[in-house]
Amino acid sequence: MEKIAVIGCGLIGQGWTAVFAQAGFNVAMYDASSDAAKRALKAMEPRISDLAEFNLVETDEVPQILGRISVAGNLEEALDGAVYVQENGPEDVGIKKEITGSLDAIAAPSVPIGSSTSGISASRYCEGIAGRHRCLVVHPINPPHLIPAVEIVPTPWTDQNIVSRVNELMLQCRRETIVLNEEIDGFIVNRLQGALLEEAFKLVGSGIVSATDLDKAICDGLGLRWSFMGPMQTIHLNAPDGVDDYVARYGKMYRGFGIGSYETVDWAKIANEKLVAELSQKTPVAEIPEAQIDRDRKLMVLLRHKATQSKRDCP
Ligand SMILES: NC(=O)c1ccc[n+]([C@@H]2O[C@H](COP(=O)([O-])OP(=O)(O)OC[C@H]3O[C@@H](n4cnc5c(N)ncnc54)[C@H](O)[C@@H]3O)[C@@H](O)[C@H]2O)c1
Repeated sequence: MEKIAVIGCGLIGQGWTAVFAQAGFNVAMYDASSDAAKRALKAMEPRISDLAEFNLVETDEVPQILGRISVAGNLEEALDGAVYVQENGPEDVGIKKEITGSLDAIAAPSVPIGSSTSGISASRYCEGIAGRHRCLVVHPINPPHLIPAVEIVPTPWTDQNIVSRVNELMLQCRRETIVLNEEIDGFIVNRLQGALLEEAFKLVGSGIVSATDLDKAICDGLGLRWSFMGPMQTIHLNAPDGVDDYVARYGKMYRGFGIGSYETVDWAKIANEKLVAELSQKTPVAEIPEAQIDRDRKLMVLLRHKATQSKRDCP
């Protein structure tokens, strides 16, 4: 059984530990704060048992998963024999630089060093590190053991072979990988979330809507479709002739809102040059009516499920 080192055992380190152990890896947890890894292991036990409660793992798998996790007393012990390192230290460039330098000095030369950073491009902390070719961002979404999407963000000097190996490892761990072609701070997930939050703060801050009603726009509105199709596929299905038809019909309306830099981001050009080919390959225009029926059926399943859930978190 191969071993993975999880460095930093807060919220995210714990989630990753569950992901790797569930996929059959031995996991060594290390944290700079004494006892943090032991406390983390204890905190994870009920969360992993919960997976069985919701039929996401078999009940008899729970002790096996927990049995694959160990606490390392120091970095050397954590990294000894590890095939991959996932760093989950605090979100600070200086700390990332220090931890990554130490990891690079100890880990075997071919071992990839992935960071969970929420928004710092890896080149900002690993440029001066000897093994910078094996450093990259591998960004999960909290809680990592429940949300499958993972962003893989190489630096300009990350070895392509490292990117492919990390991608394969994540697929083996049943993650849905989003591989960026080049670095950008905030990557994709937090840039999208940031754009949405910026507008949400504006709308609530100016008194146009309450936070509670604004939240309904997502959990009783846009978010329902987003749980099984992204915004690009959503608009492709929202006009009879697909995404370029959508942009022709509604692009001008969005421009009128004065939200973004529509002068520099030409929706029609991007739709014609990129989106039409990619989205039509997945859903040809002739199949849009069928895809709409499929979407509606998925929504019905989701609505039925939501009706059985507590309304506490989502009014
Ligand atoms: N919390 C989120 O929602 C979220 C989501 C995705 C990614 N992230 C990213 O994951 C990383 C960890 O976030 P978190 O929420 O788990 O933080 P956290 O504060 O819960 O955990 C950080 C852990 O790192 C430990 N640590 C500090 N210095 C260390 C060192 N030199 N070596 C080893 N361990 C060290 C701390 O003792 C602590 O246990 C951050 O980069 C964060 O941006 C967070």
